[in-house]
Amino acid sequence: MEIPKSWQKVCEEIITSPGKVLILGRGNVGKTFFTTYLANQGYKAKLKTGVLDMDIGQSNIGPPTTMGIGILEKEVEGLYEIAPKEVYFVGAISPSHPFAQKNILFGFKKLMSKKLDLDLFIIESISYLRDKNFMSLLLSLEMEVISPKYVVILLKPTDIPTNQNNEEYLSEKEMEGGGKIFTISAPKGIKSKSPNKRKKFRVESWLRYFKNGKRYLIDKRWDIWEGEMTQLNVSCGLVDKEGDYFACGVLYGSNKDYYYLFAPNLEKEVKKIVLGKKEIEKEVIEFCKMVNIKEEKLPVLF
Ligand SMILES: Nc1ncnc2c1ncn2[C@@H]1O[C@H](COP(=O)(O)OP(=O)(O)OP(=O)(O)O)[C@@H](O)[C@H]1O
Ligand SMILES: [Mg+2]
Repeated sequence: MEIPKSWQKVCEEIITSPGKVLILGRGNVGKTFFTTYLANQGYKAKLKTGVLDMDIGQSNIGPPTTMGIGILEKEVEGLYEIAPKEVYFVGAISPSHPFAQKNILFGFKKLMSKKLDLDLFIIESISYLRDKNFMSLLLSLEMEVISPKYVVILLKPTDIPTNQNNEEYLSEKEMEGGGKIFTISAPKGIKSKSPNKRKKFRVESWLRYFKNGKRYLIDKRWDIWEGEMTQLNVSCGLVDKEGDYFACGVLYGSNKDYYYLFAPNLEKEVKKIVLGKKEIEKEVIEFCKMVNIKEEKLPVLF
Protein backbone atom coordinates (compact mmCIF):
# COMPACT_ATOMS: atom_id res chain seq x y z
CA MET A 1 0.00 0.00 0.00
CA GLU A 2 1.00 3.54 -0.72
CA ILE A 3 2.71 5.43 2.13
CA PRO A 4 1.95 9.18 2.11
CA LYS A 5 4.98 11.48 1.83
CA SER A 6 4.08 13.15 5.12
CA TRP A 7 4.19 9.77 6.89
CA GLN A 8 7.62 9.03 5.43
CA LYS A 9 8.96 12.37 6.58
CA VAL A 10 7.67 11.96 10.14
CA CYS A 11 9.05 8.42 10.39
CA GLU A 12 12.46 9.47 9.10
CA GLU A 13 12.67 12.16 11.75
CA ILE A 14 11.64 9.76 14.52
CA ILE A 15 14.12 7.07 13.43
CA THR A 16 16.97 9.60 13.40
CA SER A 17 16.42 10.30 17.09
CA PRO A 18 14.15 7.56 18.47
CA GLY A 19 12.29 7.31 21.77
CA LYS A 20 8.72 6.79 22.91
CA VAL A 21 5.98 7.62 20.40
CA LEU A 22 2.29 7.98 21.24
CA ILE A 23 -0.12 7.44 18.33
CA LEU A 24 -3.54 9.09 18.63
CA GLY A 25 -6.59 9.43 16.42
CA ARG A 26 -10.19 8.42 15.88
CA GLY A 27 -11.25 5.01 14.65
CA ASN A 28 -10.17 4.04 11.16
CA VAL A 29 -7.67 6.78 10.46
CA GLY A 30 -4.71 4.46 9.87
CA LYS A 31 -3.19 4.31 13.38
CA THR A 32 -2.35 0.63 13.09
CA PHE A 33 -1.09 1.03 9.56
CA PHE A 34 1.14 3.95 10.57
CA THR A 35 2.39 2.04 13.63
CA THR A 36 3.31 -0.93 11.43
CA TYR A 37 5.20 1.28 9.00
CA LEU A 38 7.11 3.10 11.75
CA ALA A 39 7.90 -0.15 13.58
CA ASN A 40 9.30 -1.69 10.39
CA GLN A 41 11.42 1.39 9.72
CA GLY A 42 12.77 1.13 13.27
CA TYR A 43 13.53 -2.55 12.90
CA LYS A 44 15.29 -2.00 9.57
CA ALA A 45 17.40 0.73 11.18
CA LYS A 46 18.52 -1.89 13.78
CA LEU A 47 16.66 -0.22 16.64
CA LYS A 48 15.20 -2.42 19.36
CA THR A 49 11.57 -1.72 18.51
CA GLY A 50 8.48 -2.52 20.55
CA VAL A 51 4.77 -1.80 20.19
CA LEU A 52 2.04 -1.48 22.80
CA ASP A 53 -1.33 -2.27 21.23
CA MET A 54 -4.03 -0.83 23.48
CA ASP A 55 -6.91 -1.90 21.26
CA ILE A 56 -8.99 -4.49 23.16
CA GLY A 57 -11.48 -5.22 20.35
CA GLN A 58 -9.39 -5.28 17.19
CA SER A 59 -6.35 -6.64 19.00
CA ASN A 60 -3.28 -7.25 16.91
CA ILE A 61 -0.79 -8.09 19.67
CA GLY A 62 -2.43 -10.62 21.98
CA PRO A 63 -6.06 -11.77 21.66
CA PRO A 64 -9.21 -9.63 21.96
CA THR A 65 -10.02 -8.56 25.56
CA THR A 66 -6.32 -7.86 26.20
CA MET A 67 -3.75 -5.14 25.64
CA GLY A 68 -0.37 -6.42 24.53
CA ILE A 69 3.26 -5.51 24.03
CA GLY A 70 5.43 -7.16 21.37
CA ILE A 71 9.00 -6.70 20.19
CA LEU A 72 9.88 -6.87 16.50
CA GLU A 73 12.02 -9.81 15.50
CA LYS A 74 11.49 -9.40 11.76
CA GLU A 75 9.88 -7.05 9.29
CA VAL A 76 6.10 -7.55 9.43
CA GLU A 77 3.17 -7.17 7.05
CA GLY A 78 0.85 -6.34 9.91
CA LEU A 79 1.12 -5.81 13.67
CA TYR A 80 -0.64 -9.15 14.19
CA GLU A 81 2.59 -10.89 13.19
CA ILE A 82 4.32 -9.59 16.32
CA ALA A 83 4.25 -12.19 19.10
CA PRO A 84 2.89 -10.87 22.41
CA LYS A 85 5.60 -10.57 25.06
CA GLU A 86 3.36 -9.09 27.73
CA VAL A 87 -0.42 -9.17 27.91
CA TYR A 88 -2.82 -7.46 30.27
CA PHE A 89 -6.30 -8.88 30.57
CA VAL A 90 -9.07 -6.28 30.35
CA GLY A 91 -11.97 -8.72 29.98
CA ALA A 92 -14.07 -6.80 27.46
CA ILE A 93 -13.87 -5.79 23.82
CA SER A 94 -15.22 -2.27 24.24
CA PRO A 95 -13.95 0.46 26.54
CA SER A 96 -17.45 1.75 27.13
CA HIS A 97 -18.02 -0.08 30.43
CA PRO A 98 -16.66 1.38 33.67
CA PHE A 99 -14.91 -1.86 34.67
CA ALA A 100 -13.18 -2.00 31.27
CA GLN A 101 -12.10 1.61 31.65
CA LYS A 102 -10.63 0.95 35.08
CA ASN A 103 -8.77 -2.09 33.72
CA ILE A 104 -7.44 -0.13 30.75
CA LEU A 105 -6.03 2.63 32.97
CA PHE A 106 -4.53 0.18 35.44
CA GLY A 107 -3.23 -2.18 32.76
CA PHE A 108 -1.68 0.61 30.76
CA LYS A 109 0.34 1.70 33.80
CA LYS A 110 1.33 -1.87 34.55
CA LEU A 111 2.46 -2.59 30.98
CA MET A 112 4.44 0.64 30.81
CA SER A 113 6.30 -0.32 33.99
CA LYS A 114 7.85 -3.43 32.34
CA LYS A 115 11.60 -3.15 31.80
CA LEU A 116 12.07 -3.66 28.09
CA ASP A 117 15.07 -1.51 27.14
CA LEU A 118 13.63 -0.39 23.83
CA ASP A 119 15.18 2.19 21.50
CA LEU A 120 11.86 2.82 19.81
CA PHE A 121 8.62 2.22 21.69
CA ILE A 122 5.39 2.89 19.82
CA ILE A 123 2.17 3.11 21.79
CA GLU A 124 -1.02 2.87 19.71
CA SER A 125 -3.75 4.34 21.85
CA ILE A 126 -7.42 3.48 21.61
CA SER A 127 -9.75 5.39 19.30
CA TYR A 128 -11.57 8.39 20.63
CA LEU A 129 -14.81 7.36 22.23
CA ARG A 130 -17.95 9.25 22.97
CA ASP A 131 -16.96 9.19 26.63
CA LYS A 132 -14.97 12.43 26.74
CA ASN A 133 -14.24 12.21 30.47
CA PHE A 134 -12.59 8.85 30.14
CA MET A 135 -10.62 9.88 27.06
CA SER A 136 -9.23 12.99 28.69
CA LEU A 137 -8.32 10.99 31.78
CA LEU A 138 -6.57 8.42 29.58
CA LEU A 139 -4.73 11.07 27.61
CA SER A 140 -3.39 12.82 30.70
CA LEU A 141 -2.28 9.47 32.12
CA GLU A 142 -0.58 8.60 28.82
CA MET A 143 1.26 11.90 28.70
CA GLU A 144 2.40 11.52 32.31
CA VAL A 145 3.39 7.84 32.22
CA ILE A 146 4.91 7.70 28.72
CA SER A 147 6.37 11.19 28.65
CA PRO A 148 6.56 10.73 24.87
CA LYS A 149 9.30 12.18 22.74
CA TYR A 150 6.79 12.29 19.90
CA VAL A 151 3.03 12.41 19.65
CA VAL A 152 1.57 11.55 16.26
CA ILE A 153 -2.04 12.58 15.68
CA LEU A 154 -3.80 11.11 12.67
CA LEU A 155 -6.71 13.14 11.32
CA LYS A 156 -9.53 12.01 9.12
CA PRO A 157 -9.08 13.45 5.60
CA THR A 158 -12.30 15.41 6.13
CA ASP A 159 -10.85 17.04 9.26
CA ILE A 160 -7.81 18.61 7.61
CA PRO A 161 -7.88 22.23 6.52
CA THR A 162 -9.27 22.59 3.00
CA ASN A 163 -7.04 23.28 -0.01
CA GLN A 164 -4.45 20.93 1.38
CA ASN A 165 -3.31 17.70 -0.13
CA ASN A 166 -3.85 14.80 2.29
CA GLU A 167 -0.65 13.13 1.25
CA GLU A 168 1.39 16.21 2.06
CA TYR A 169 -0.46 17.48 5.12
CA LEU A 170 1.90 17.79 8.07
CA SER A 171 1.84 20.15 10.99
CA GLU A 172 4.55 20.20 13.67
CA LYS A 173 4.53 21.68 17.13
CA GLU A 174 7.11 21.62 19.93
CA MET A 175 5.78 20.34 23.24
CA GLU A 176 6.36 22.21 26.45
CA GLY A 177 9.22 20.47 28.26
CA GLY A 178 10.55 18.86 25.06
CA GLY A 179 9.20 16.58 22.39
CA LYS A 180 7.22 17.15 19.28
CA ILE A 181 3.64 16.75 18.11
CA PHE A 182 3.11 15.77 14.47
CA THR A 183 -0.33 15.99 12.94
CA ILE A 184 -0.82 14.10 9.70
CA SER A 185 -3.74 12.90 7.66
CA ALA A 186 -5.04 9.46 6.85
CA PRO A 187 -4.72 8.68 3.16
CA LYS A 188 -7.79 9.54 1.13
CA GLY A 189 -9.43 6.30 0.04
CA ILE A 190 -9.26 4.75 3.54
CA LYS A 191 -12.05 2.23 4.02
CA SER A 192 -13.88 1.74 7.29
CA LYS A 193 -14.30 -1.79 8.57
CA SER A 194 -17.82 -3.22 8.77
CA PRO A 195 -19.01 -4.85 12.03
CA ASN A 196 -18.77 -8.18 10.25
CA LYS A 197 -15.18 -7.60 9.24
CA ARG A 198 -14.37 -6.55 12.80
CA LYS A 199 -15.90 -9.74 14.13
CA LYS A 200 -13.94 -11.83 11.63
CA PHE A 201 -10.77 -10.06 12.71
CA ARG A 202 -11.48 -10.90 16.38
CA VAL A 203 -11.98 -14.57 15.56
CA GLU A 204 -8.71 -14.61 13.60
CA SER A 205 -6.94 -12.88 16.46
CA TRP A 206 -8.07 -15.61 18.89
CA LEU A 207 -7.10 -18.43 16.54
CA ARG A 208 -3.67 -16.91 16.05
CA TYR A 209 -3.23 -16.72 19.79
CA PHE A 210 -4.38 -20.31 20.22
CA LYS A 211 -2.01 -21.78 17.64
CA ASN A 212 -0.15 -24.55 19.53
CA GLY A 213 -2.66 -24.06 22.34
CA LYS A 214 -3.89 -26.69 24.78
CA ARG A 215 -7.05 -27.85 26.52
CA TYR A 216 -6.92 -27.74 30.28
CA LEU A 217 -9.19 -29.20 32.94
CA ILE A 218 -10.00 -27.07 35.96
CA ASP A 219 -11.27 -29.03 38.95
CA LYS A 220 -14.51 -27.46 40.16
CA ARG A 221 -13.32 -27.79 43.75
CA TRP A 222 -10.38 -25.47 43.19
CA ASP A 223 -10.85 -22.01 44.59
CA ILE A 224 -8.98 -19.98 41.99
CA TRP A 225 -11.59 -17.66 40.53
CA GLU A 226 -11.83 -13.92 40.67
CA GLY A 227 -15.10 -12.46 39.46
CA GLU A 228 -18.46 -14.15 39.37
CA MET A 229 -19.00 -17.30 37.30
CA THR A 230 -22.28 -16.30 35.69
CA GLN A 231 -21.72 -17.93 32.30
CA LEU A 232 -19.30 -19.99 30.26
CA ASN A 233 -17.85 -19.04 26.87
CA VAL A 234 -16.00 -16.06 28.29
CA SER A 235 -12.35 -15.14 28.13
CA CYS A 236 -10.27 -15.16 31.27
CA GLY A 237 -6.90 -13.87 32.41
CA LEU A 238 -4.36 -16.22 34.00
CA VAL A 239 -2.39 -14.79 36.89
CA ASP A 240 1.00 -16.07 38.10
CA LYS A 241 2.38 -16.14 41.64
CA GLU A 242 3.71 -12.59 41.30
CA GLY A 243 0.16 -11.41 40.67
CA ASP A 244 0.82 -10.65 36.99
CA TYR A 245 -1.17 -11.79 33.99
CA PHE A 246 0.91 -14.16 31.91
CA ALA A 247 -1.68 -15.54 29.48
CA CYS A 248 -5.31 -15.41 28.48
CA GLY A 249 -7.72 -18.25 27.79
CA VAL A 250 -11.30 -19.14 26.95
CA LEU A 251 -13.63 -21.09 29.21
CA TYR A 252 -15.47 -23.17 26.63
CA GLY A 253 -17.45 -25.78 28.56
CA SER A 254 -17.78 -27.96 31.64
CA ASN A 255 -18.87 -31.36 32.92
CA LYS A 256 -19.79 -32.59 36.39
CA ASP A 257 -16.27 -32.25 37.78
CA TYR A 258 -14.36 -29.88 35.52
CA TYR A 259 -14.40 -26.63 33.62
CA TYR A 260 -12.69 -26.69 30.23
CA LEU A 261 -10.16 -24.02 29.43
CA PHE A 262 -8.39 -23.40 26.14
CA ALA A 263 -5.13 -21.50 26.47
CA PRO A 264 -1.67 -21.29 24.94
CA ASN A 265 0.83 -23.86 26.20
CA LEU A 266 1.34 -22.69 29.79
CA GLU A 267 4.88 -22.59 31.07
CA LYS A 268 3.95 -21.37 34.53
CA GLU A 269 1.56 -22.40 37.25
CA VAL A 270 -1.68 -20.50 37.60
CA LYS A 271 -2.36 -18.78 40.88
CA LYS A 272 -5.63 -17.14 39.98
CA ILE A 273 -8.08 -16.87 37.07
CA VAL A 274 -9.89 -13.60 36.41
CA LEU A 275 -13.18 -13.93 34.54
CA GLY A 276 -14.15 -11.70 31.62
CA LYS A 277 -17.60 -10.26 31.07
CA LYS A 278 -18.45 -10.77 27.46
CA GLU A 279 -19.28 -13.92 25.58
CA ILE A 280 -16.69 -14.92 23.00
CA GLU A 281 -17.61 -15.42 19.32
CA LYS A 282 -19.13 -18.84 18.73
CA GLU A 283 -16.55 -19.63 16.02
CA VAL A 284 -13.84 -19.47 18.70
CA ILE A 285 -15.79 -21.73 21.05
CA GLU A 286 -16.33 -24.18 18.17
CA PHE A 287 -12.60 -24.22 17.49
CA CYS A 288 -11.85 -24.99 21.15
CA LYS A 289 -14.33 -27.85 21.11
CA MET A 290 -13.37 -29.30 17.75
CA VAL A 291 -9.62 -29.24 17.81
CA ASN A 292 -8.17 -32.66 18.40
CA ILE A 293 -5.98 -32.32 21.50
CA LYS A 294 -6.06 -34.39 24.65
CA GLU A 295 -7.08 -32.57 27.82
CA GLU A 296 -4.66 -32.17 30.69
CA LYS A 297 -4.98 -30.80 34.19
CA LEU A 298 -4.30 -27.11 34.58
CA PRO A 299 -0.99 -26.53 36.34
CA VAL A 300 -2.12 -24.74 39.48
CA LEU A 301 -0.18 -23.20 42.33
CA PHE A 302 -1.85 -23.79 45.68
N1 LIG B 1 -1.61 4.20 3.84
C1 LIG B 1 -2.68 3.47 3.60
N2 LIG B 1 -3.03 3.20 2.33
C2 LIG B 1 -4.12 2.44 2.07
N3 LIG B 1 -4.93 1.91 3.01
C3 LIG B 1 -4.66 2.15 4.28
C4 LIG B 1 -3.54 2.96 4.67
N4 LIG B 1 -3.53 3.05 6.01
C5 LIG B 1 -4.57 2.32 6.43
N5 LIG B 1 -5.25 1.79 5.41
C6 LIG B 1 -6.45 0.92 5.52
O1 LIG B 1 -7.46 1.61 6.22
C7 LIG B 1 -8.11 0.80 7.20
C8 LIG B 1 -8.00 1.40 8.61
O2 LIG B 1 -6.65 1.50 8.98
P1 LIG B 1 -6.13 1.13 10.44
O3 LIG B 1 -6.64 -0.17 10.88
O4 LIG B 1 -4.66 1.33 10.41
O5 LIG B 1 -6.84 2.29 11.28
P2 LIG B 1 -6.90 2.49 12.85
O6 LIG B 1 -6.92 3.96 13.09
O7 LIG B 1 -5.83 1.71 13.51
O8 LIG B 1 -8.31 1.87 13.18
P3 LIG B 1 -8.86 1.31 14.60
O9 LIG B 1 -9.76 2.35 15.10
O10 LIG B 1 -9.59 0.06 14.22
O11 LIG B 1 -7.68 1.05 15.49
C9 LIG B 1 -7.44 -0.55 7.10
O12 LIG B 1 -8.29 -1.42 6.40
C10 LIG B 1 -6.13 -0.30 6.38
O13 LIG B 1 -5.76 -1.42 5.61
MG1 LIG C 1 -5.82 0.32 15.15
